[in-house]
This record gives sequence, structure tokens and C-alpha cells, in this order.
Amino acid sequence: MNVNIHKDIEKISDEIISTRRDIHKHPELGFEVHRTAGIVAEKLKNLGMDVQTGIGKTGVVGDLKCGDGPTIALRADMDALPIQETGDLGYKSINDRIMHACGHDGHTAMLLGTAKVLADKKSKIRGTVRFLFQPAEEGEGGARYMIEDGCLDGVAEIYGIHLWNYQKFGEVGVKEGPILAAADEFKITIKGVGGHGAAPQGSVDAVVVSAHLITALQTIVSRNTNPLESTVVSIGMINGGYSFNIIADEVVLKGTARSYTEENRQLIKTRMQEIIDGIGQSFGAVIDFDYHDGYPPTVNDKGVYEKLLASAKKIVGEGAGDPYLSMGGEDFSYYTQKIPGCFFFVGSAPENQPFRSVPHHCSHFDIDERALMVGSSIFVQLIEDQLMT
Ligand code: NI
Repeated sequence: MNVNIHKDIEKISDEIISTRRDIHKHPELGFEVHRTAGIVAEKLKNLGMDVQTGIGKTGVVGDLKCGDGPTIALRADMDALPIQETGDLGYKSINDRIMHACGHDGHTAMLLGTAKVLADKKSKIRGTVRFLFQPAEEGEGGARYMIEDGCLDGVAEIYGIHLWNYQKFGEVGVKEGPILAAADEFKITIKGVGGHGAAPQGSVDAVVVSAHLITALQTIVSRNTNPLESTVVSIGMINGGYSFNIIADEVVLKGTARSYTEENRQLIKTRMQEIIDGIGQSFGAVIDFDYHDGYPPTVNDKGVYEKLLASAKKIVGEGAGDPYLSMGGEDFSYYTQKIPGCFFFVGSAPENQPFRSVPHHCSHFDIDERALMVGSSIFVQLIEDQLMT
């Protein structure tokens, strides 16, 4: 494995690691990232940047303006998760039931390191580097609020990193086109007619209807979508009934649908509605269907992806290639809906643990901190390649 950490990042690696550990120790949820955003704003101001706070509620935008040229945005997310940390890191979370279990502490530290190095190169850069630090990636779509507040105004292209414990240190996963899925949510309420368990005549058994419905919904992925295109329909929750001898009059199902394209997203939604209508009619049940669009698919632009890949290869060589894909969602997708962008994974599987045994969102989450320097190096290299002559 041949990893060439950028020499300027190497010099500040201790600072990047200590920033990450400090943020890890003080995690904050959703839009409530006040302490983290405060640290970010102060550090960017100290680097001489134009800094705006309160963007997307609690986000921070720093502009490194270096004369005429395009504006390139680099993005980090700052929020943690409602999880009680169970690992025994020396910098373990001091906040009850809040934990950086996805690596956003690392994203913030990497981008701050990048900002420090690039601020030193100001006289050689032609253009503007915009540093975006956003709140609320985990579910509330902080990116949308950042965009509403103008964070993409004048921006030509955008890049974002996710540390990735499904890949090893020295690997960078990136591809053209969809890289993360649309992450939708649905609720199905089956309304039947209750009765005595010994006398089913005259009833409409919501439990029996739900059994048929759950089975039939599985045929969307197996029979309707193209087997070469990944999709998922999962029922994660079923709730209904009262007792062993009562026919249930209502069952509620909740689940998620995932897809990499808008076409498949629509296909799943349409087929779900048709199956629900058909089964409802055949059993005489009334079925409510509530489908909520979550984050759209994250889609990498071809040209921007090629630039990123070229810069990443200078840091990790042949370690840059196809990602370990997941059907997870990312609100970076809102940026890539507006302007060309590239989202990529930086391998961060912990060194001393069995490979893939420390997944994102688990209570003992940790990373190989050397990955922080890989991510920062790629960002610095990218800006040197794009904006320095
Ligand atoms: Ni994440």
C-alpha cells in the first residue's frame, strides 16, 4: 500500500487528530451543534477567512477568496447520533446518549485541517474555496437549509467525504453516477373489522391482510425492478392486535424503500400503491398508504468525479477505485441535485479490529485516525490541482 500524505497535512496531523478527539468528546445532535460550529467559526476566522454563521440554522460557511477564478465548495457535516457510547476511548463522549458514531467528528476535523493548509497557500490560489460545515445530516436534511440560505450561490462544483469503515486505510471509494441511495420511509395502516377469534365470519382480519401484503410487497424488488439495479423494500415494524382470541381490526406497518435512481424510486412507489389497493380490495380492508420521500439518491457528476479520482490517485495510488457500496442515504444529495458534485469514501476501518466489525452507527464506533490525513490530503491536492497554477 502506497499512501502519500500531503506534506503540509503531515505537519499538522497532531492538530487534526486532537480536533477530532475534542469534537468526539463533545458530540451534539441535529441542528444543536452550537459548540462545534463555534469552534469551526473561530478557527476559520483566525485563518483570515470571510465567515458566515447561522447558515442553515447552525451551519458555518467560510470563504477563502484568492482572486479571480471559480468557486469550489468542500463540505463537512458536524452532527452526532442519539447513541450511548460503549467503547472505552480516552476521549469518549461526555454527553449522555449522544455519540459521534458515524465519523462526522472526523469530517469536521479533516476540513478544518484542509482550511488551515490552504489558507497558507492563498497567494498561489486562483479562485475561491468555500468551506461548508453543515448541521443535521442525520435525518433532518441540514443541507437543504444551507442551500436555502445561499451556500451554493456562485459555486461551480462541490466535494464531500465520508469516512468509511467498510474500507481499509489507504483505500478511497468513488464512482461516477449514483453512490448512495434514496432513503424513503413509509407507513401502511390496514383497517379491517374486528371480531371473536372463534367466529371469523363477518370480520375482516387485519392480521391476515398484513401477511398477504408483506409477502406481496417483496415481489416489487424480486419481480418488478431490474435485477441489475439495486433496490430494497424492507418492512421494519408491524404492530397490531389485542389478544389470542380477538380478530384484529387494525395493523400498522412501517418500512423503508431504497433505490439509486429516481425511476426506480417512482416504480417502487407506484407498485406499492397498486399492491395495497389490490389486496385491500380483495379482502375488503381499507388501507392507508403514507409514503414520505427522504433524501434523494446521491449522484456523482462524471467530470467532477474524474477530477477527484485524479487527485485521489496522487495520494493513495491504486488504492483509489470502486467503493464498497451501501443503500444508505446522505443529504449531500441535495447539493448534487443543484450543482455538479462528487461524494467519496475514505477507508477508515479500525486497525486492530476484525475488518468490518465496527460499522457506522454502532455504539463502539471508532476509526483509524490515519484516514483523517488521507481525506485532508485529497482535499488539499484537489484544490492545488484545480485552482493553483
Ligand atoms: Ni454519516
